[in-house]
Amino acid sequence: MSGSGEAAVTEPSVPQQHPNTHPEIHALTGARVSALHSTTGSSALPRLTVIGTGYLGATHAICMALLGYEVLGVDVLPEKVDRLNAGEVPFFEPGLPECLTKALESGRLRFTTDYAEAAAFGDVHFLCVGTPQKAGSPAADLTYVDAAATALARHLDRRTLIVGKSTVPVGTAARLTELVQRLAPAGAEVELAWNPEFLREGYAVEDTLRPDRLVFGVGSDWAEQRLRAAFAPILEAGTPLVVTDLPTAELVKVAANSFLATKISYINAMAEVCETAGADVNALASALSHDPRIGGRFLQPGLGFGGGCLPKDIRAFAHRAEEIGVGQAVAFLHEVDAINIRRRVRTVDLVRELAGGTLAGKRIAALGAAFKPNSDDIRDAPALDVARRLHAEGALVRVYDPEAAANARRAYPDLEYVQSTLEAAADADVVVLLTEWTEFRQIDPDVLGAHVARRAVVDGRHALDAQAYRAAGWEYRALGTPAAH
Ligand code: UDX
Repeated sequence: MSGSGEAAVTEPSVPQQHPNTHPEIHALTGARVSALHSTTGSSALPRLTVIGTGYLGATHAICMALLGYEVLGVDVLPEKVDRLNAGEVPFFEPGLPECLTKALESGRLRFTTDYAEAAAFGDVHFLCVGTPQKAGSPAADLTYVDAAATALARHLDRRTLIVGKSTVPVGTAARLTELVQRLAPAGAEVELAWNPEFLREGYAVEDTLRPDRLVFGVGSDWAEQRLRAAFAPILEAGTPLVVTDLPTAELVKVAANSFLATKISYINAMAEVCETAGADVNALASALSHDPRIGGRFLQPGLGFGGGCLPKDIRAFAHRAEEIGVGQAVAFLHEVDAINIRRRVRTVDLVRELAGGTLAGKRIAALGAAFKPNSDDIRDAPALDVARRLHAEGALVRVYDPEAAANARRAYPDLEYVQSTLEAAADADVVVLLTEWTEFRQIDPDVLGAHVARRAVVDGRHALDAQAYRAAGWEYRALGTPAAH
């Protein structure tokens, strides 16, 4: 069966083209900019600041400048600001470097570390700083949100809208409103709104310019009108809009991510049952996906979810629900998390089985380190967790990832990193595919087989052509499928 997990995805799938190769995006931005300037004049557009220039903020700042807005990006790290001003995106995101070049050339985008300048410049301020998991706790760490809101508020001396985009525990917007109105010279003239962001790494430009929906959490008509002006070209393109109150907007984001995580863990729970029952989770997922009430997206079984959002968001949501006395309502998220972690343990079990029952001294080729393909992000990456578990059992693990090796080496210097798939595979006892990069999918099993010590592969993402590998003499194993058909 060829990369048979894919059979489950029968709905209109995620765009496979990278945003920079998407001609419609250029058409959209070009057409919108001229339409806006001719009908309303550029002076009608609010001036935007974007505070925090990580994956979310940098993409938002760049895309809004492409859409015709004057944008000032703000970050506390001078090095980041310098790189962005010089036209360099500090992380891997397909299409974004080309967009940054275009935005800088338009003269509508620049970056600064100066909050006073940001306050003087902006009519609408987007808060895009990170809310990572707190060390030693499932809760979200709001240090950066609070610091950014505080630093900005001290300089706000006229009627202004601050729009939170970061993923936060419900109730944060109300608390921040009190904070900024207390600190700002303009007092109650400063309002808070919440506009959750749903962008996927790897498709960040596409998701920002052409989102599935916009959500505005607002406390007044004025705030809604300001947000409508700040998203005018995207709304004009017919994007669905949900206008709601602040707590609902905060909850939309964690509810969406919890749903996605639950869907992934659901099919991975089925994989666990299949493993014991001798059934095939790929065929099961494929059969489920034909029911339009279920659908095939996010029903791809395998090593499970990671990254900077899904894992920490479900933990923070469960924690916040407990704090406000409704922990039982989302207690299932603990199980979603546990299923997800068990997939990593089971992958290590499969590698150990193929290695002959022990990992000590065995050479393992680990293909992938990023939490998903088309990303250099290693935050909570299942791939690296598996590699480290193998290493901890005494295996000699060689990791190759097309983009994430530098980040991985910085975080986990104990593992060995190499420059190519074939280098990783040299004399390997077992090859384990951990992130489904296209280049791993495309490799010829015979070419790979010529380099390994033994033809044994664990396909952690159901990304390889099982039949082709078996035909080439490989022992092929994947989560939730029988050992051999
Ligand atoms: C996610 C949400 O999709 C996005 O809307 C939100 O704003 C941020 O979090 P992202 O973290 O970029 O985006 O990754 P996504 O593409 O959603 O994948 C998340 C993880 O789930 C990856 O580790 C991926 O490998 C895994 N996954 C996804 C599966 O294991 N199976 C699937 O079927 C789909």
